[in-house]
Amino acid sequence: MRSPAGIVGKGTIRSLGVVAALLAALVLGASAGVERPAFLEPPDHVMPRPRGSLSGFGNPLLMAPDDLAVFSTGQETFIEVESLPQLGPLFNSRSCATCHFQPALGGSGSFINEIRIRNNTRPGPLQIFASDNILRLGPQTQGGQPFFQNGVEASPLGCQITSAGCNLSPCQLELMAQTGWSPGLPICDPTSADFASGHNCTAERQATPLFGFGLVEAISDHTFVEIAAHQPAALRGVVKQVTELGAVRVARFGWKDDVATLRGFSGDAYLNEVGISNPDFPNDRSTCALNKTLSGVLLDADDDPEDQPDAEGRADVDRFVDFMRGLDAPPTLPQSTDARAGQGLFAAIGCGGCHVASIRTSFNPAAFVPPTTGGVLLSPTLNFVLRNRTIHPYSDFLLHDMGSLGDGITSGAAGPMMMRTAPLWGVRAKSRLLHDGRAEDIAGAIQFHAGQAAASRDAFLGLTPAQQQQVLDFLGTI
Ligand code: HEC
Ligand code: HEC
Repeated sequence: MRSPAGIVGKGTIRSLGVVAALLAALVLGASAGVERPAFLEPPDHVMPRPRGSLSGFGNPLLMAPDDLAVFSTGQETFIEVESLPQLGPLFNSRSCATCHFQPALGGSGSFINEIRIRNNTRPGPLQIFASDNILRLGPQTQGGQPFFQNGVEASPLGCQITSAGCNLSPCQLELMAQTGWSPGLPICDPTSADFASGHNCTAERQATPLFGFGLVEAISDHTFVEIAAHQPAALRGVVKQVTELGAVRVARFGWKDDVATLRGFSGDAYLNEVGISNPDFPNDRSTCALNKTLSGVLLDADDDPEDQPDAEGRADVDRFVDFMRGLDAPPTLPQSTDARAGQGLFAAIGCGGCHVASIRTSFNPAAFVPPTTGGVLLSPTLNFVLRNRTIHPYSDFLLHDMGSLGDGITSGAAGPMMMRTAPLWGVRAKSRLLHDGRAEDIAGAIQFHAGQAAASRDAFLGLTPAQQQQVLDFLGTI
């Protein structure tokens, strides 16, 4: 699959080059013949920089035909849209794909799609939607003819717990009481006096891209410990250990390093984002809609776990893993001289201390990558593809004290100011940056760095504008 995609990528670059040449010819032609009014002249010869190509994101690793077939089934499951009574009773969306799609399936989301609350006594996100609130009541009629006898699903999916004027349903009222959420809670600033005095607040989170994460899962725990040990004291990251699927493991997934394996994240996301109970998370988060009906529609059945392994030993949660594990790393782009200079600057000003350029995967990931919920082991052929590879994620996947950029949420060993180093591979494809999307571009994201990253941020701000642009050029190619 990779080589045809590579050819498409090259073709795109070539044809963009042709378009650029044509445009340049037109502009030159115009300026040679007709005198242009001053307001049409570009200021100081600054040319708009073409955005790098987004072709090739979401491609599978180069793998054996059997593994590729498993990947494809996983991909189909990833886009499946769930319905009542399995969906919910509390949920954020109806499909994994609705939040992980940019710039291709398995990517990030371009909007805030998760809310956390500092003083939540019920860990996990605040779900925006509830199954007892997604139907527009009653049969619909048109021209006297009844249709949609059982009402229709509202779009967006009912009233959002966060919308002013939402008439909260019983499930939503219960969630509000359990999480401590209320309208008007401020965004946490972990460096503020309010925060120090314990006041409640919220953090918003963006979905992260999943490209290359099978390779990240295949990094051995020991490697993360080594990375931390070799970091200069001022930058050193925290290795967070979690007990997951029967073993103590090094967490590497999520903004706060909550999860160590793709299976662990899959089960958590299926329950917390989509409201589907599954083998590893066997109970719905609430019984608020159990056996209740609305307009004749059963909202939640007594059917936990709603997702179970099939005859092949794979539940939906395993299919999601099959898809994520097979996703290749984001494609890199050829580097200009400026981008190469930017690569040197990136290392020199300390960005690479946390955004680690190269990591090697384990010699035998199958020794620690968990089997499916039905007990199927990682295939030897896929193990061969994932093993002993040098990857370039530009992250150490460790937690760092980011000062005022911290989201204010405590999650195990991850304190309120601590965040996982965001991988920078493929960062050119993101339309918003940082955990809550507060930055619209890379330069903005750098300026929000604080805490352990303050010195590196200042070093970036101390570069000449041309050097800063070289760093940005470099980040546009990785
Ligand atoms: C409503 C939006 C939403 C839906 C639906 C959703 N996710 Fe996510 N996903 C997120 C957010 C937000 C994060 C970042 C979570 C965090 O760490 O706080 C995330 C992170 C992840 C990560 C960790 C990535 C990393 O950077 O380490 C994985 C894996 C993942 N999601 C898988 C899934 C799967 C599988 C599904 C379907 C069952 C799914 N997601 C559905 C919003 C969503
Ligand atoms: C002390 C460790 C550290 C250093 C040094 C550091 N970063 Fe970061 N970086 C992080 C963390 C942690 C995040 C995630 C912050 C958050 O939660 O929003 C991040 C996020 C980013 C993002 C946003 C990525 C995304 O997907 O949203 C960019 C871009 C970035 N860093 C670039 C840089 C550059 C360029 C430098 C050097 C000037 C640098 N960083 C130095 C730790 C660091």
